[in-house]
Amino acid sequence: MAEKKIIAVVGATGAQGGGLVRAIMSDKGGPFTARALTRDVNSDKAKALAALGAEVVKADVDDVESLKKAFAGAHGAFCVTFYWAHYSPETEIAQARSMAQAAKHAGLQHVIWSTLEDTRKWVPLSDDRMPTLMDKYKVPHFDGKGEANQVFTELGVPTTLLHTSFYWDNFIFFGSGPQRGPDGKLAITFPMGDKKLPGIAAEDIGKCAYGIFKRGREFVGKSVGIAGEHLTGSQMAAALSKALGQEVGYNAVDPDVYRSFGFPGADDLGNMFQFKRDFEKDFCGARNLEFARSLNPELQTFDQWLAKNKDRIPLE
Ligand SMILES: NC(=O)c1ccc[n+]([C@@H]2O[C@H](COP(=O)([O-])OP(=O)(O)OC[C@H]3O[C@@H](n4cnc5c(N)ncnc54)[C@H](OP(=O)(O)O)[C@@H]3O)[C@@H](O)[C@H]2O)c1
Repeated sequence: MAEKKIIAVVGATGAQGGGLVRAIMSDKGGPFTARALTRDVNSDKAKALAALGAEVVKADVDDVESLKKAFAGAHGAFCVTFYWAHYSPETEIAQARSMAQAAKHAGLQHVIWSTLEDTRKWVPLSDDRMPTLMDKYKVPHFDGKGEANQVFTELGVPTTLLHTSFYWDNFIFFGSGPQRGPDGKLAITFPMGDKKLPGIAAEDIGKCAYGIFKRGREFVGKSVGIAGEHLTGSQMAAALSKALGQEVGYNAVDPDVYRSFGFPGADDLGNMFQFKRDFEKDFCGARNLEFARSLNPELQTFDQWLAKNKDRIPLE
């Protein structure tokens, strides 16, 4: 049997990378094996990946030498950054540069960079429809990733730019779930009006990334986008109502109202949703559902995701 090619996976104990490690390791007859990168090889999550047969190695995206070691001898790598751990686009760009440098050093054949749009191409800083944040961004957690695309290109790393979507898991973990209003009724709140939000089960991002690696060099040098469904706030509320067995409404607030909510990152997310609302055609158009399904035939719809996860959604 031919030796399996190694895919080094950054963020392996997290949502995107974890999905990829599980996808690779569950395809026993497949061409790849996973090398899971973590800062703590002894954590329960790291041990769970080792139990699947993945090689688990220590690396930190802030430490380029650790990345060089972790990428050595691999065929490819999945690269992702962790905006909500530090709230700094500059840190994301520096970490992307370290990953690209390590990929170049290791001579990797294929890197997937998990990125998002640089929204300043649609909303220049001079456009006052939304506030400029941190002096030079409109949507900091998007713009830094988009700006970092060029780092991979400049270094000549064979890269696929993977544009991801809003995780439906945010209804469980990120405070986006239904909340009870003063009237006692549950509602979700997004400043999206009647526009569609591309969403995906976080686990499916890794499965789609696996599909990209399996297609060989087809998507090297290309930009691709994935989603499970494109749904309006009303459609998501209707699906939640059905799954939870109680009515969930949709508060289509103004982006200014969302930005004023005051939780960390509310201004960034308010701008993000406004960008997705105002450029619905481009944003949804960049995330083709049939394409995602061709990479990952198990791609979940929102209803399917809810059927599995509805009991994990906290109802306040
Ligand atoms: N939430 C959404 O809807 C959404 C949608 C699209 C894109 N995104 C983007 O997704 C990114 C996060 O990806 P995720 O959700 O897969 O992350 P995650 O689930 O939060 O996982 C992060 C993992 O990365 C590892 N990590 C953190 N800092 C690290 C470092 N310095 N070096 C090496 N590993 C580190 C941690 O593992 P160890 O502790 O084991 O080292 C952790 O388990 C964010 O940048 C966000 O903007 C989010």
